[in-house]
Amino acid sequence: MSSRYTPVAAYSRTATFASLLIGLLVFSPDRAFADQPITKIAFGSCATQQRPCPIWSTIADYQPDWLLLLGDNIYADVVEGRLKPATPERIQEAYDELARFPDFMRLRQQTPIFATWDDHDYGNNDAGVEWEHKDAAAKMFHDFFGTPADSPLRKQRGIYDAKIIGPPGKRVQMIMLDTRYFRSELEKGTEPLPGFRAKPYVAASGEGVTMLGDAQWKWLAEQLKQPAELRIIGSSIQVLSDDHPFEKWGNMPAERERLFELIRSQEASGVVIISGDRHLGEISVDNDVVGYPLYDVTASGLNQANLGWRMPEPNVRRHSSLPYGNHFGSIEIDWDAEDPVVSLQLRHEDGEIAVQSRVPLSLLKAGPAPKPRPEGVVSPLQALAMNEGDGLTVQFNVVTGRVIGDGERILLNSDIDFRGPKNFTVVVNRSALTGAYANANFDSFKGKTIRATGAISLYNGAKQLQIDDAAKLLLVE
Ligand SMILES: [Fe+2]
Repeated sequence: MSSRYTPVAAYSRTATFASLLIGLLVFSPDRAFADQPITKIAFGSCATQQRPCPIWSTIADYQPDWLLLLGDNIYADVVEGRLKPATPERIQEAYDELARFPDFMRLRQQTPIFATWDDHDYGNNDAGVEWEHKDAAAKMFHDFFGTPADSPLRKQRGIYDAKIIGPPGKRVQMIMLDTRYFRSELEKGTEPLPGFRAKPYVAASGEGVTMLGDAQWKWLAEQLKQPAELRIIGSSIQVLSDDHPFEKWGNMPAERERLFELIRSQEASGVVIISGDRHLGEISVDNDVVGYPLYDVTASGLNQANLGWRMPEPNVRRHSSLPYGNHFGSIEIDWDAEDPVVSLQLRHEDGEIAVQSRVPLSLLKAGPAPKPRPEGVVSPLQALAMNEGDGLTVQFNVVTGRVIGDGERILLNSDIDFRGPKNFTVVVNRSALTGAYANANFDSFKGKTIRATGAISLYNGAKQLQIDDAAKLLLVE
Protein backbone atom coordinates (compact mmCIF):
# COMPACT_ATOMS: atom_id res chain seq x y z
CA MET A 1 0.00 0.00 0.00
CA SER A 2 1.37 3.41 -0.96
CA SER A 3 2.34 5.69 1.89
CA ARG A 4 0.33 8.58 0.43
CA TYR A 5 -2.74 6.78 1.78
CA THR A 6 -1.57 7.17 5.35
CA PRO A 7 -4.60 8.55 7.20
CA VAL A 8 -4.39 12.13 8.35
CA ALA A 9 -4.10 12.24 12.12
CA ALA A 10 -6.75 14.47 13.64
CA TYR A 11 -4.54 15.05 16.62
CA SER A 12 -0.89 14.34 17.07
CA ARG A 13 -0.73 11.93 19.96
CA THR A 14 1.57 9.06 20.57
CA ALA A 15 0.39 5.59 19.69
CA THR A 16 0.16 4.72 23.35
CA PHE A 17 -2.08 7.67 24.02
CA ALA A 18 -4.29 6.76 21.05
CA SER A 19 -4.77 3.30 22.53
CA LEU A 20 -5.59 4.73 25.93
CA LEU A 21 -8.04 7.16 24.41
CA ILE A 22 -9.91 4.52 22.50
CA GLY A 23 -10.36 2.49 25.65
CA LEU A 24 -12.05 5.50 27.26
CA LEU A 25 -14.27 6.25 24.29
CA VAL A 26 -15.78 2.81 23.93
CA PHE A 27 -19.54 2.98 23.85
CA SER A 28 -20.94 0.95 26.70
CA PRO A 29 -24.46 0.14 25.64
CA ASP A 30 -25.36 -3.24 27.09
CA ARG A 31 -27.36 -1.97 30.03
CA ALA A 32 -28.73 1.13 28.35
CA PHE A 33 -30.31 -0.60 25.36
CA ALA A 34 -30.95 -4.13 26.51
CA ASP A 35 -34.74 -3.59 26.54
CA GLN A 36 -35.01 -1.56 23.34
CA PRO A 37 -35.75 -3.57 20.18
CA ILE A 38 -33.03 -3.38 17.56
CA THR A 39 -34.33 -2.03 14.25
CA LYS A 40 -31.11 -1.28 12.39
CA ILE A 41 -27.78 -3.08 12.32
CA ALA A 42 -24.77 -2.23 10.17
CA PHE A 43 -22.02 -4.73 9.49
CA GLY A 44 -18.93 -5.11 7.37
CA SER A 45 -15.37 -6.33 7.12
CA CYS A 46 -12.05 -5.65 5.46
CA ALA A 47 -10.96 -2.11 6.28
CA THR A 48 -7.28 -1.43 5.90
CA GLN A 49 -5.92 1.35 8.06
CA GLN A 50 -3.45 2.05 5.25
CA ARG A 51 -6.05 3.76 3.02
CA PRO A 52 -8.77 6.34 3.62
CA CYS A 53 -12.06 4.81 4.72
CA PRO A 54 -14.89 7.26 4.04
CA ILE A 55 -17.47 4.57 4.74
CA TRP A 56 -16.89 4.98 8.51
CA SER A 57 -18.55 8.38 8.12
CA THR A 58 -21.39 6.93 6.02
CA ILE A 59 -22.09 4.29 8.66
CA ALA A 60 -22.04 6.93 11.40
CA ASP A 61 -24.62 8.94 9.42
CA TYR A 62 -26.73 5.81 8.93
CA GLN A 63 -27.00 5.65 12.75
CA PRO A 64 -27.33 1.92 13.28
CA ASP A 65 -28.29 0.55 16.69
CA TRP A 66 -25.23 -1.70 16.47
CA LEU A 67 -22.20 -2.11 14.23
CA LEU A 68 -20.94 -5.66 13.77
CA LEU A 69 -17.37 -5.97 12.51
CA LEU A 70 -16.61 -9.32 10.92
CA GLY A 71 -12.84 -9.13 10.85
CA ASP A 72 -9.95 -7.71 8.88
CA ASN A 73 -10.82 -4.67 10.94
CA ILE A 74 -7.15 -3.82 10.48
CA TYR A 75 -4.51 -5.23 8.17
CA ALA A 76 -1.54 -5.97 10.42
CA ASP A 77 0.13 -8.42 8.06
CA VAL A 78 0.39 -6.21 4.99
CA VAL A 79 3.59 -4.21 4.63
CA GLU A 80 4.01 -2.01 1.55
CA GLY A 81 1.35 -3.96 -0.22
CA ARG A 82 2.83 -7.37 0.52
CA LEU A 83 1.71 -10.04 2.96
CA LYS A 84 4.08 -10.59 5.85
CA PRO A 85 3.18 -12.34 9.13
CA ALA A 86 2.75 -9.60 11.73
CA THR A 87 4.69 -9.12 14.92
CA PRO A 88 2.72 -8.17 18.05
CA GLU A 89 4.22 -4.67 17.71
CA ARG A 90 2.90 -4.40 14.17
CA ILE A 91 -0.60 -5.46 15.26
CA GLN A 92 -0.58 -2.76 17.95
CA GLU A 93 0.62 -0.15 15.45
CA ALA A 94 -2.20 -1.06 13.09
CA TYR A 95 -4.81 -0.62 15.85
CA ASP A 96 -3.21 2.69 16.79
CA GLU A 97 -3.43 3.77 13.16
CA LEU A 98 -7.14 2.92 13.06
CA ALA A 99 -7.64 4.90 16.26
CA ARG A 100 -6.40 7.98 14.41
CA PHE A 101 -9.27 7.90 11.88
CA PRO A 102 -11.59 10.73 13.05
CA ASP A 103 -14.59 9.16 11.26
CA PHE A 104 -14.00 5.83 12.94
CA MET A 105 -13.71 7.56 16.31
CA ARG A 106 -16.98 9.45 15.75
CA LEU A 107 -18.71 6.19 14.80
CA ARG A 108 -17.17 4.53 17.81
CA GLN A 109 -18.46 7.14 20.22
CA GLN A 110 -22.04 7.02 19.01
CA THR A 111 -22.48 3.36 18.13
CA PRO A 112 -21.94 0.17 20.08
CA ILE A 113 -19.55 -2.11 18.21
CA PHE A 114 -19.56 -5.89 18.46
CA ALA A 115 -16.57 -7.38 16.66
CA THR A 116 -14.75 -10.55 15.82
CA TRP A 117 -11.57 -10.97 13.84
CA ASP A 118 -10.35 -12.53 10.63
CA ASP A 119 -6.88 -13.40 9.45
CA HIS A 120 -5.42 -9.92 8.93
CA ASP A 121 -6.21 -8.71 12.45
CA TYR A 122 -5.34 -12.16 13.78
CA GLY A 123 -1.96 -11.30 12.29
CA ASN A 124 -1.28 -13.78 9.49
CA ASN A 125 -2.98 -14.42 6.17
CA ASP A 126 -5.33 -17.46 6.22
CA ALA A 127 -3.86 -18.55 9.57
CA GLY A 128 -5.57 -20.83 12.07
CA VAL A 129 -4.74 -22.73 15.25
CA GLU A 130 -1.03 -22.76 14.45
CA TRP A 131 -0.51 -18.98 14.57
CA GLU A 132 2.17 -18.15 17.14
CA HIS A 133 0.99 -14.66 18.13
CA LYS A 134 -2.70 -15.49 18.56
CA ASP A 135 -2.86 -14.81 22.29
CA ALA A 136 -0.98 -11.54 21.94
CA ALA A 137 -3.36 -10.60 19.12
CA ALA A 138 -6.36 -11.49 21.28
CA LYS A 139 -5.18 -9.21 24.09
CA MET A 140 -4.75 -6.30 21.67
CA PHE A 141 -8.19 -7.03 20.18
CA HIS A 142 -9.76 -6.84 23.65
CA ASP A 143 -7.81 -3.69 24.52
CA PHE A 144 -8.86 -1.99 21.31
CA PHE A 145 -12.53 -2.93 21.51
CA GLY A 146 -12.74 -2.07 25.19
CA THR A 147 -13.41 -5.47 26.75
CA PRO A 148 -13.45 -4.70 30.50
CA ALA A 149 -10.36 -5.84 32.40
CA ASP A 150 -12.42 -8.18 34.60
CA SER A 151 -14.49 -9.66 31.75
CA PRO A 152 -14.40 -13.47 31.47
CA LEU A 153 -13.88 -12.90 27.74
CA ARG A 154 -10.30 -11.95 28.57
CA LYS A 155 -9.70 -15.42 30.00
CA GLN A 156 -11.55 -17.28 27.26
CA ARG A 157 -9.40 -18.72 24.50
CA GLY A 158 -10.67 -17.36 21.19
CA ILE A 159 -12.69 -14.28 20.28
CA TYR A 160 -16.32 -15.37 20.39
CA ASP A 161 -19.28 -13.90 22.20
CA ALA A 162 -23.06 -13.44 21.98
CA LYS A 163 -25.67 -10.93 23.09
CA ILE A 164 -29.45 -10.85 23.12
CA ILE A 165 -31.00 -7.39 22.85
CA GLY A 166 -34.66 -6.43 22.98
CA PRO A 167 -37.86 -7.37 24.81
CA PRO A 168 -39.57 -10.78 24.41
CA GLY A 169 -41.15 -10.97 20.96
CA LYS A 170 -38.54 -8.59 19.51
CA ARG A 171 -35.29 -10.15 20.64
CA VAL A 172 -32.26 -10.07 18.37
CA GLN A 173 -29.47 -12.46 19.24
CA MET A 174 -26.06 -11.55 17.85
CA ILE A 175 -23.55 -14.38 17.82
CA MET A 176 -19.99 -13.65 16.77
CA LEU A 177 -17.87 -16.69 15.95
CA ASP A 178 -14.11 -17.14 15.95
CA THR A 179 -13.10 -19.03 12.80
CA ARG A 180 -9.36 -18.56 13.43
CA TYR A 181 -8.16 -19.47 16.91
CA PHE A 182 -9.12 -23.16 16.85
CA ARG A 183 -9.33 -23.79 13.12
CA SER A 184 -7.14 -26.69 12.12
CA GLU A 185 -4.54 -26.10 9.44
CA LEU A 186 -5.68 -26.00 5.83
CA GLU A 187 -4.01 -27.82 3.03
CA LYS A 188 -3.64 -26.41 -0.48
CA GLY A 189 -4.37 -28.45 -3.58
CA THR A 190 -1.91 -28.66 -6.45
CA GLU A 191 -4.02 -27.50 -9.42
CA PRO A 192 -5.92 -24.19 -9.69
CA LEU A 193 -9.69 -24.37 -10.17
CA PRO A 194 -10.78 -23.52 -13.74
CA GLY A 195 -11.04 -19.75 -14.06
CA PHE A 196 -8.82 -19.05 -11.05
CA ARG A 197 -5.12 -18.57 -10.57
CA ALA A 198 -5.33 -19.56 -6.90
CA LYS A 199 -4.97 -23.16 -5.90
CA PRO A 200 -7.95 -24.25 -3.85
CA TYR A 201 -7.80 -25.51 -0.31
CA VAL A 202 -8.47 -29.22 -0.12
CA ALA A 203 -11.75 -30.14 1.55
CA ALA A 204 -10.80 -31.61 4.91
CA SER A 205 -12.72 -33.82 7.29
CA GLY A 206 -11.94 -36.47 9.84
CA GLU A 207 -10.38 -36.51 13.26
CA GLY A 208 -8.82 -33.24 14.38
CA VAL A 209 -10.39 -31.20 11.58
CA THR A 210 -12.29 -28.36 13.20
CA MET A 211 -13.50 -24.88 12.39
CA LEU A 212 -14.63 -23.77 15.85
CA GLY A 213 -12.98 -26.18 18.29
CA ASP A 214 -14.79 -28.16 20.99
CA ALA A 215 -15.27 -25.38 23.54
CA GLN A 216 -16.75 -22.98 21.01
CA TRP A 217 -19.02 -25.67 19.53
CA LYS A 218 -20.40 -26.42 23.01
CA TRP A 219 -20.87 -22.75 23.71
CA LEU A 220 -22.68 -22.26 20.37
CA ALA A 221 -25.11 -25.08 21.14
CA GLU A 222 -25.97 -23.33 24.43
CA GLN A 223 -26.47 -20.00 22.67
CA LEU A 224 -28.90 -21.47 20.14
CA LYS A 225 -31.08 -22.70 23.02
CA GLN A 226 -31.63 -19.15 24.26
CA PRO A 227 -34.95 -17.65 23.20
CA ALA A 228 -34.72 -15.03 20.44
CA GLU A 229 -36.82 -14.09 17.42
CA LEU A 230 -33.95 -13.21 15.07
CA ARG A 231 -30.45 -14.66 15.36
CA ILE A 232 -27.56 -13.11 13.47
CA ILE A 233 -24.52 -15.35 13.30
CA GLY A 234 -21.33 -13.53 12.31
CA SER A 235 -18.67 -15.66 10.63
CA SER A 236 -15.54 -14.03 9.25
CA ILE A 237 -15.55 -16.44 6.29
CA GLN A 238 -18.48 -17.43 4.06
CA VAL A 239 -20.71 -20.31 5.11
CA LEU A 240 -22.76 -20.96 1.95
CA SER A 241 -20.68 -19.81 -1.01
CA ASP A 242 -18.32 -22.64 -1.83
CA ASP A 243 -17.54 -22.67 -5.54
CA HIS A 244 -14.44 -20.49 -5.15
CA PRO A 245 -10.97 -21.76 -4.13
CA PHE A 246 -10.46 -19.52 -1.09
CA GLU A 247 -11.27 -19.81 2.61
CA LYS A 248 -14.85 -20.90 3.37
CA TRP A 249 -16.74 -23.27 5.63
CA GLY A 250 -17.03 -25.45 2.53
CA ASN A 251 -13.34 -26.37 3.02
CA MET A 252 -14.51 -28.35 6.06
CA PRO A 253 -17.75 -29.93 4.84
CA ALA A 254 -18.33 -31.98 7.99
CA GLU A 255 -17.90 -28.92 10.18
CA ARG A 256 -20.34 -26.97 8.04
CA GLU A 257 -22.83 -29.82 8.21
CA ARG A 258 -22.35 -29.77 11.99
CA LEU A 259 -23.37 -26.10 12.02
CA PHE A 260 -26.51 -26.85 9.99
CA GLU A 261 -27.31 -29.88 12.13
CA LEU A 262 -26.91 -27.79 15.28
CA ILE A 263 -29.37 -25.19 14.00
CA ARG A 264 -31.82 -27.97 13.05
CA SER A 265 -31.50 -29.96 16.25
CA GLN A 266 -31.91 -26.88 18.48
CA GLU A 267 -34.93 -25.91 16.33
CA ALA A 268 -33.33 -22.47 16.19
CA SER A 269 -35.59 -20.14 14.21
CA GLY A 270 -34.61 -16.82 12.70
CA VAL A 271 -30.97 -17.57 11.86
CA VAL A 272 -29.30 -15.28 9.33
CA ILE A 273 -25.58 -15.59 8.64
CA ILE A 274 -23.39 -12.57 7.95
CA SER A 275 -19.87 -12.99 6.61
CA GLY A 276 -16.90 -11.12 5.17
CA ASP A 277 -13.44 -11.93 3.82
CA ARG A 278 -14.03 -12.03 0.09
CA HIS A 279 -13.70 -8.32 -0.84
CA LEU A 280 -17.05 -8.49 -2.58
CA GLY A 281 -20.68 -8.29 -1.54
CA GLU A 282 -23.26 -10.96 -2.18
CA ILE A 283 -26.35 -12.55 -0.70
CA SER A 284 -26.52 -16.33 -0.83
CA VAL A 285 -29.40 -18.55 0.22
CA ASP A 286 -29.91 -22.27 0.69
CA ASN A 287 -33.35 -23.79 1.25
CA ASP A 288 -32.21 -27.26 2.10
CA VAL A 289 -29.87 -27.05 5.04
CA VAL A 290 -31.71 -25.92 8.16
CA GLY A 291 -35.40 -26.46 7.38
CA TYR A 292 -36.03 -22.89 6.25
CA PRO A 293 -34.19 -20.57 3.86
CA LEU A 294 -30.75 -19.88 5.32
CA TYR A 295 -29.27 -16.58 4.14
CA ASP A 296 -25.57 -15.73 4.16
CA VAL A 297 -25.05 -12.02 3.59
CA THR A 298 -21.45 -11.28 2.70
CA ALA A 299 -20.35 -7.66 3.17
CA SER A 300 -16.66 -7.45 2.51
CA GLY A 301 -14.85 -4.36 1.55
CA LEU A 302 -15.39 -1.37 3.84
CA ASN A 303 -12.48 0.09 1.86
CA GLN A 304 -11.06 -2.99 0.15
CA ALA A 305 -13.62 -3.76 -2.57
CA ASN A 306 -12.87 -1.06 -5.13
CA LEU A 307 -9.44 -2.24 -6.12
CA GLY A 308 -10.63 -3.24 -9.61
CA TRP A 309 -13.74 -4.60 -11.26
CA ARG A 310 -14.05 -8.34 -11.36
CA MET A 311 -16.59 -10.88 -12.41
CA PRO A 312 -18.69 -12.27 -9.60
CA GLU A 313 -17.15 -15.48 -8.31
CA PRO A 314 -19.03 -18.67 -9.17
CA ASN A 315 -21.62 -19.35 -6.46
CA VAL A 316 -24.65 -21.51 -7.15
CA ARG A 317 -26.33 -20.20 -4.00
CA ARG A 318 -26.04 -16.53 -4.98
CA HIS A 319 -29.25 -14.56 -4.76
CA SER A 320 -27.79 -11.14 -5.64
CA SER A 321 -24.38 -9.58 -5.78
CA LEU A 322 -22.28 -6.47 -5.64
CA PRO A 323 -19.06 -7.46 -7.38
CA TYR A 324 -17.46 -4.03 -7.30
CA GLY A 325 -17.31 -1.14 -4.89
CA ASN A 326 -16.80 -0.53 -1.19
CA HIS A 327 -19.88 -1.29 0.80
CA PHE A 328 -21.37 -2.26 4.13
CA GLY A 329 -24.24 -4.54 5.06
CA SER A 330 -27.35 -3.57 6.95
CA ILE A 331 -30.21 -5.48 8.50
CA GLU A 332 -33.39 -3.55 9.17
CA ILE A 333 -36.25 -5.05 11.12
CA ASP A 334 -39.80 -3.77 10.99
CA TRP A 335 -41.18 -5.14 14.23
CA ASP A 336 -44.48 -3.28 13.76
CA ALA A 337 -45.54 -5.29 10.71
CA GLU A 338 -48.03 -8.05 11.50
CA ASP A 339 -45.37 -10.49 10.34
CA PRO A 340 -42.13 -8.63 11.14
CA VAL A 341 -40.05 -7.97 8.04
CA VAL A 342 -36.28 -8.47 8.00
CA SER A 343 -34.50 -6.56 5.21
CA LEU A 344 -31.07 -7.89 4.35
CA GLN A 345 -29.16 -5.18 2.53
CA LEU A 346 -25.85 -4.24 0.99
CA ARG A 347 -25.19 -0.50 0.79
CA HIS A 348 -22.83 1.51 -1.38
CA GLU A 349 -20.16 3.75 0.05
CA ASP A 350 -22.66 6.65 0.00
CA GLY A 351 -25.21 4.69 2.04
CA GLU A 352 -27.65 3.94 -0.80
CA ILE A 353 -29.07 0.43 -0.90
CA ALA A 354 -27.37 -1.58 -3.65
CA VAL A 355 -29.15 -4.92 -3.27
CA GLN A 356 -31.56 -6.28 -0.74
CA SER A 357 -33.77 -9.20 0.11
CA ARG A 358 -36.85 -8.75 2.26
CA VAL A 359 -37.80 -11.74 4.33
CA PRO A 360 -40.85 -12.11 6.55
CA LEU A 361 -39.64 -13.37 9.91
CA SER A 362 -42.25 -16.16 9.75
CA LEU A 363 -40.31 -17.61 6.79
CA LEU A 364 -37.29 -18.23 9.03
CA LYS A 365 -39.16 -20.64 11.23
CA ALA A 366 -37.72 -23.94 12.27
CA GLY A 367 -40.20 -26.74 11.82
CA PRO A 368 -40.52 -29.38 14.50
CA ALA A 369 -37.67 -31.88 14.44
CA PRO A 370 -38.68 -34.69 12.05
CA LYS A 371 -40.59 -37.49 13.78
CA PRO A 372 -39.23 -41.01 13.39
CA ARG A 373 -40.64 -42.93 10.43
CA PRO A 374 -41.81 -46.48 11.07
CA GLU A 375 -40.22 -49.12 8.86
CA GLY A 376 -41.58 -49.01 5.33
CA VAL A 377 -42.73 -45.40 5.58
CA VAL A 378 -40.79 -43.28 3.10
CA SER A 379 -39.45 -39.70 3.10
CA PRO A 380 -40.38 -37.16 0.41
CA LEU A 381 -37.03 -37.74 -1.34
CA GLN A 382 -37.65 -41.49 -1.40
CA ALA A 383 -41.17 -40.89 -2.72
CA LEU A 384 -39.76 -38.71 -5.50
CA ALA A 385 -37.50 -41.57 -6.56
CA MET A 386 -40.54 -43.86 -7.12
CA ASN A 387 -42.56 -44.28 -10.30
CA GLU A 388 -46.12 -43.44 -11.30
CA GLY A 389 -48.50 -46.02 -9.92
CA ASP A 390 -46.14 -47.24 -7.16
CA GLY A 391 -47.88 -47.70 -3.82
CA LEU A 392 -46.35 -45.98 -0.79
CA THR A 393 -46.80 -44.46 2.64
CA VAL A 394 -44.98 -41.15 2.92
CA GLN A 395 -44.36 -39.04 6.01
CA PHE A 396 -43.24 -35.42 6.30
CA ASN A 397 -43.71 -32.11 8.07
CA VAL A 398 -46.10 -29.87 6.17
CA VAL A 399 -44.07 -26.79 5.33
CA THR A 400 -46.21 -24.98 2.76
CA GLY A 401 -49.50 -25.50 0.95
CA ARG A 402 -52.92 -24.00 0.27
CA VAL A 403 -56.56 -24.68 -0.42
CA ILE A 404 -57.52 -24.62 -4.11
CA GLY A 405 -60.69 -24.85 -6.17
CA ASP A 406 -63.03 -23.33 -3.62
CA GLY A 407 -62.18 -25.97 -1.04
CA GLU A 408 -62.02 -28.84 -3.52
CA ARG A 409 -58.47 -29.77 -2.55
CA ILE A 410 -55.84 -28.99 0.07
CA LEU A 411 -52.25 -29.14 -1.11
CA LEU A 412 -49.69 -30.16 1.52
CA ASN A 413 -46.03 -29.64 0.55
CA SER A 414 -42.90 -31.07 2.10
CA ASP A 415 -40.67 -28.19 0.99
CA ILE A 416 -40.78 -24.41 1.24
CA ASP A 417 -40.26 -24.20 -2.53
CA PHE A 418 -43.29 -26.06 -3.87
CA ARG A 419 -41.91 -26.01 -7.43
CA GLY A 420 -38.47 -27.11 -6.30
CA PRO A 421 -36.89 -30.48 -7.06
CA LYS A 422 -37.17 -31.67 -3.44
CA ASN A 423 -40.84 -30.98 -2.90
CA PHE A 424 -43.40 -33.75 -2.63
CA THR A 425 -47.08 -32.84 -2.49
CA VAL A 426 -49.94 -34.73 -0.87
CA VAL A 427 -53.26 -33.63 -2.34
CA VAL A 428 -56.20 -34.06 0.02
CA ASN A 429 -59.41 -34.20 -2.03
CA ARG A 430 -62.75 -33.09 -0.64
CA SER A 431 -63.96 -36.69 -0.44
CA ALA A 432 -61.32 -37.27 2.27
CA LEU A 433 -62.46 -34.31 4.34
CA THR A 434 -64.79 -36.27 6.59
CA GLY A 435 -64.77 -37.33 10.22
CA ALA A 436 -61.89 -35.64 12.06
CA TYR A 437 -61.11 -33.67 8.90
CA ALA A 438 -64.67 -32.45 8.21
CA ASN A 439 -63.79 -28.79 8.79
CA ALA A 440 -60.12 -29.03 7.93
CA ASN A 441 -58.31 -26.23 6.16
CA PHE A 442 -54.63 -25.68 5.46
CA ASP A 443 -53.98 -24.47 9.01
CA SER A 444 -55.17 -27.85 10.29
CA PHE A 445 -52.02 -29.37 8.74
CA LYS A 446 -49.45 -26.56 8.62
CA GLY A 447 -46.33 -27.35 10.65
CA LYS A 448 -47.66 -30.80 11.53
CA THR A 449 -46.39 -34.21 10.56
CA ILE A 450 -48.60 -36.17 8.17
CA ARG A 451 -48.45 -39.80 7.07
CA ALA A 452 -50.30 -40.49 3.80
CA THR A 453 -50.91 -43.76 1.97
CA GLY A 454 -51.72 -44.20 -1.73
CA ALA A 455 -50.04 -44.40 -5.10
CA ILE A 456 -47.80 -41.99 -6.99
CA SER A 457 -49.62 -39.98 -9.63
CA LEU A 458 -48.37 -37.23 -11.92
CA TYR A 459 -49.58 -33.65 -12.17
CA ASN A 460 -47.88 -31.54 -14.85
CA GLY A 461 -44.99 -33.96 -14.63
CA ALA A 462 -44.60 -33.63 -10.84
CA LYS A 463 -45.02 -36.68 -8.64
CA GLN A 464 -47.71 -36.44 -5.99
CA LEU A 465 -50.06 -38.50 -3.93
CA GLN A 466 -53.83 -37.98 -3.96
CA ILE A 467 -55.92 -38.82 -0.90
CA ASP A 468 -59.64 -39.60 -1.39
CA ASP A 469 -60.27 -41.39 1.90
CA ALA A 470 -59.73 -39.91 5.39
CA ALA A 471 -58.50 -43.30 6.58
CA LYS A 472 -55.44 -42.92 4.33
CA LEU A 473 -54.29 -39.74 6.05
CA LEU A 474 -52.87 -39.59 9.56
CA LEU A 475 -51.74 -36.65 11.64
CA VAL A 476 -48.75 -38.04 13.53
CA GLU A 477 -48.71 -36.98 17.17
FE1 LIG B 1 -9.96 -8.88 3.93
